[in-house]
Amino acid sequence: MAGAVAVAESTYGPVDFRKATKRSLEGPVRIEDLGYVPFPVKFLVPDFMIPCDLFVPVLAKGEEVPTFVKVLDRGQFFSEEWRFALHEQRVETLYAEEGAVTDLDDYFAEVLHAFSEDEVTTAWQKAQVGYHYGEFLARRVFQDVFDGELFEKATQWGDFLVRLFEHEQTKVSVIYRLFSRNYETFTHCVQVALMAAAFCGFCGRRSEDAGSVAVAGLYHDIGKIWVDQRILLKPASLSREEFAHIRRHPQAAYDHLAAMDWMNADQLAAVLEHHESMDGTGYPRGLQGADIHPHARVLRLCDCFDALTTHRPYKKAVTPYRALKLMQSEMRLSLDRHLLYKFIQFLGS
Ligand SMILES: [Fe+2]
Ligand SMILES: [Fe+2]
Repeated sequence: MAGAVAVAESTYGPVDFRKATKRSLEGPVRIEDLGYVPFPVKFLVPDFMIPCDLFVPVLAKGEEVPTFVKVLDRGQFFSEEWRFALHEQRVETLYAEEGAVTDLDDYFAEVLHAFSEDEVTTAWQKAQVGYHYGEFLARRVFQDVFDGELFEKATQWGDFLVRLFEHEQTKVSVIYRLFSRNYETFTHCVQVALMAAAFCGFCGRRSEDAGSVAVAGLYHDIGKIWVDQRILLKPASLSREEFAHIRRHPQAAYDHLAAMDWMNADQLAAVLEHHESMDGTGYPRGLQGADIHPHARVLRLCDCFDALTTHRPYKKAVTPYRALKLMQSEMRLSLDRHLLYKFIQFLGS
């Protein structure tokens, strides 16, 4: 590991990495604009080869732009000892050069491929890698929705998830432990995708459908990038006009994604109809019952559950038990009754 050596030999004096990273993020220069991609330490899997050189930003006294110091070399095998050493130095996020992003995608693909055929690796470890790769993809999808290569990667990711869940019969409690309770649109999308893939497996749906739903889940709220962020994050109740503005997000997502011509018809319908209600009170089209695509009904359930169980600027998270109670009572008419029954079994599995 280059870490300890690089710090000791640094001409920048003693460095508190946590402070350096924080200051550079808060300062006038955004770290993401410096040609580096964040890669949290938690993404690295022991016994797999580090896919590219990884750096930490170090801010010299009086400077506004950090220098990137290499702490891990490409080609070495990562280990728990290194994770501990980074933790000791308070390094949580590493950075890769932007040009190395394909290597990082290949890295996740290699780990997921190895894990999907491996019976020694635990369901927890597998779900972790599935979640982390989802995070890595979703962050970039929300930065550049028009990147077709990313969509291909997302499709491969969806297939990997289905295989992971098929082999392991992954219990929802394992996936749920991974979930962030603090709402961010991109983590919400990853969580909905993961839950939808596992739920489809639980319901015995075809693998192609489960993979398809997972990808639609990853993109389902992409329309929110065209929503005014001040309204989206407003910590108070919304006016009728503000609600109407937010409710444009499924149609906005559909319009953009349909124009890209990547998604199949089922995925597009899932994205467009994920806020439709069985009783016709949903949006954007007020569809009813069987007119709502089955994929969209799955997303609707997972979406509601994740929305209820994560903290939002305007409301606190509720427990999974309370969320199910609310879904069974107040949302009873808007959700697919048979699917909800299955979903309750799934959450208890
Ligand atoms: Fe939505
Ligand atoms: Fe959503």
